Parts: sequence; structure tokens; C-alpha cells
Amino acid sequence: MPSHIRERAQIYRIASIPGDGIGVDITEAALRVLATLSTTLGTFELETTTFDWSSANYLTRGHYMPEDGLTQLKAFDAIYFGAVGWPSVPDHISLWNLILPIRKALNQYVNVRPTRILAGTKSPLVGCERGDLDWVIVRENSEGEYAGQGGISHEHSDHAIGTELAIFTQVGIERIMRFAFETARSRPRKKLTMVTKSNAQRHGMVLWDRIFYEVAKGYEDVDIDKMLVDAMTVRMVLNPKSLDTIVATNLHADILSDLAAALSGSIGIAPSSNLDPTRKNPSMFEPIHGSAPDIAGKGIANPVGAFWSAAEMVRWLGEEKAADGLMRAIENVTAAGVSTKDLGGSADTKTVTDAVCKEIEKLG
Ligand code: NAI
Ligand code: MG
Repeated sequence: MPSHIRERAQIYRIASIPGDGIGVDITEAALRVLATLSTTLGTFELETTTFDWSSANYLTRGHYMPEDGLTQLKAFDAIYFGAVGWPSVPDHISLWNLILPIRKALNQYVNVRPTRILAGTKSPLVGCERGDLDWVIVRENSEGEYAGQGGISHEHSDHAIGTELAIFTQVGIERIMRFAFETARSRPRKKLTMVTKSNAQRHGMVLWDRIFYEVAKGYEDVDIDKMLVDAMTVRMVLNPKSLDTIVATNLHADILSDLAAALSGSIGIAPSSNLDPTRKNPSMFEPIHGSAPDIAGKGIANPVGAFWSAAEMVRWLGEEKAADGLMRAIENVTAAGVSTKDLGGSADTKTVTDAVCKEIEKLG
């Protein structure tokens, strides 16, 4: 028995929710890659249970999750999620009946979104080389415009009123700031940029600014600066090298992370981790992209964001070496030019997946 193999492999229980559209293709690909990783390394095993919670089932059954869905999820060590949303169901229904309740009920108040230019891929930014764009966006994942407060009055009249209330709490801001500072501190540059819109949004965003500077007092080794979100989009495009770790609200970071993914090459490569840092509940891992109905069912979705998310899941579970090995396998494949159309290649999902599995087998 090779010395790196533990006497008994650690077993992790994974809930898999493929969801809709390309969520199904990329989840299948990610589970294949994870199975290859587990078999090759022999250090851990994944016991996966798949939940068919999707828009198709909502249309036939009237719900995404069964009533005890959230309770069922709590029994797992981690959740792997594909994507949810389909043109036959309004997007706010799909989001608010599946992914947002999971993030909230399982206290996944942090959403970590790393972005960098992978080996063999190109940024659309002229002169932006590998290493010039290497960011981690820390997204607040429980409050802001996504807290769910608001409503519509006089809906069936010609003077309907819609309110969307953004909620920012001291507890919510403090805990995301601490996580962001710890993330910045763990990276070589120890640099944190905080994003708000505290010139126009003069209450909640001002509270964000204040708490940021208060928490910063405990992290004197971290270099800090502050940006307004509109100017931040300009800086990301014109001076990507000046950024490292970024912390922003739920809405702002949602938008900035799509931009970040596009600037690093494609939205198809970007991963995300929805974390409960207290570890009382399972955390959830998913690529940042949606169900991409325009390419669904064609077998051409880029699975790299799904693989990177799988690597982050394995890392969170404590299998650091396996996570690093998976990332190396992914980058060996992108470096060899095996990539999908969104990255300028011509491979389909299966070809990229086969290539990553082959690279993983070399790790054994
Ligand atoms: P999207 O991310 O699904 O697609 C945007 C564009 O990027 C499309 O042209 C798509 O083909 C392309 N794209 C996305 N992922 C790709 C991949 N892996 N490989 C190659 N190309 C890829 O965003 P969109 O179109 O705004 O939303 C579609 C649906 O997904 C909606 O119902 C939306 O609500 C939902 N959605 C769900 C999310 C989630 O489950 N976490 C996140 C974002 C959107
Ligand atoms: Mg998004």
C-alpha cells in the first residue's frame, strides 16, 4: 500500500443538486472527476446522493424542494450544486425556491469567488498576462438586496409600487469583514479592497465603511483601500494588477464577480463556495454561471468552473492535497489547449472531462 494512503479512507457524504440546463451536464462531469480523484488517491471517498430538485419538477410537482428538503441537506458534509433557472419558470421563483433558501437556512453567509487566468488561457484584456489578474472576491451572502424584504402594493392597478429593501446589520457586516481580512491575510500580498456605494446609499453602505475600518484595526498587517462600485469596474478593467482580495455586498459582488470571470477568460471557469464558516451546517459549492439555456443539451458547456468548485469543496472538507492535485490536473488540460468554445477552443464537455480524468490518474 503506498505510504500516502491512510489505513481507512475518510468518507464524506455529498448532496448533489444538478438543477437545470447545463447544471446537469457540468454536475455529471464534476462527479466523474471527483470519483476519479478519490479512486486515484485513495485518501477519501465520496458517498453522493443526487436530488432531482429542478424547474421541470417544479412544473409537475409544484415545488423545487420537498417540505423537509433543508432538513435533509443538513445531514450531509457538503452540497454540490449545478445551476437553477429555466425560461418556463420566472427566475425569481426558481432562485427563491431553491438556491437562496439553502444559502440562508444553512447559514452560508460567505460566498468566496476566486478568479485568475488559468494556464493556456487568455484574458480579453490587452496586455493582461497570467498572474496580472489573481483575485478573490468575498461576497456577503445573506443580506443586502437579497435579504428578501420588500413587496408590491396596488399590484393590479396602474399605480403599482414595488419596494426592494436592502438590509445591512452590524453582525452581518462584521462577520463578512473578518472573513475577508482573514482571506487577505492568508494570501501573499495581504491586500484587501472594500467596495461600497456609500456616496449615494447613505445608510447601510456608510455602516459598511465604518465597520470595515473598525475591523481593520485588528489586521494591521493587511494593506487596505476602499472603492465605490462604479469606479471599481473601471479599475478591474484598467488596472487588474492593483487588486488582490475584494470584499463587497451581496449585489455588488454578484455583478463584479461576473465581470471578474469574463476578464479572466470566461464565465465558464469561475467557481464559488457558499460557506458556513462555523461549520455547523454543510457548505455548498457551485460554478458562478447559471443554467445557460442557450447552450443547454448541446454537450458544449465548459466544465472547468464546475471542476474548480469541486476542488474548493474537497479543500473545505480538509483534503488539501487532493484539491491541489485537481487544480493541477485542470491547468495541465487548459495548458495543453484542450478547452471549450468560450475559451477559444473546440473541445466539448466530455473531451475536457476525459482529459482532466486522465491527468488525475497521473497523480496516483
Ligand atoms: P448564464 O450564466 O446561465 O449564461 C450567461 C452566458 O454565459 C450565456 O451565453 C451562456 O451560454 C454562457 N455560459 C454560462 N456558463 C457557461 C459555461 N459553463 N460554458 C460556456 N458558456 C457558458 O446566465 P443567464 O443567461 O443570465 O441565466 C440563465 C439562467 O440561469 C436564468 O434562469 C438565471 O436565473 C439562472 N442563474 C442561476 C444561477 C445559479 O443557479 N446559481 C446563477 C446565475 C443565473
Ligand atoms: Mg451571479
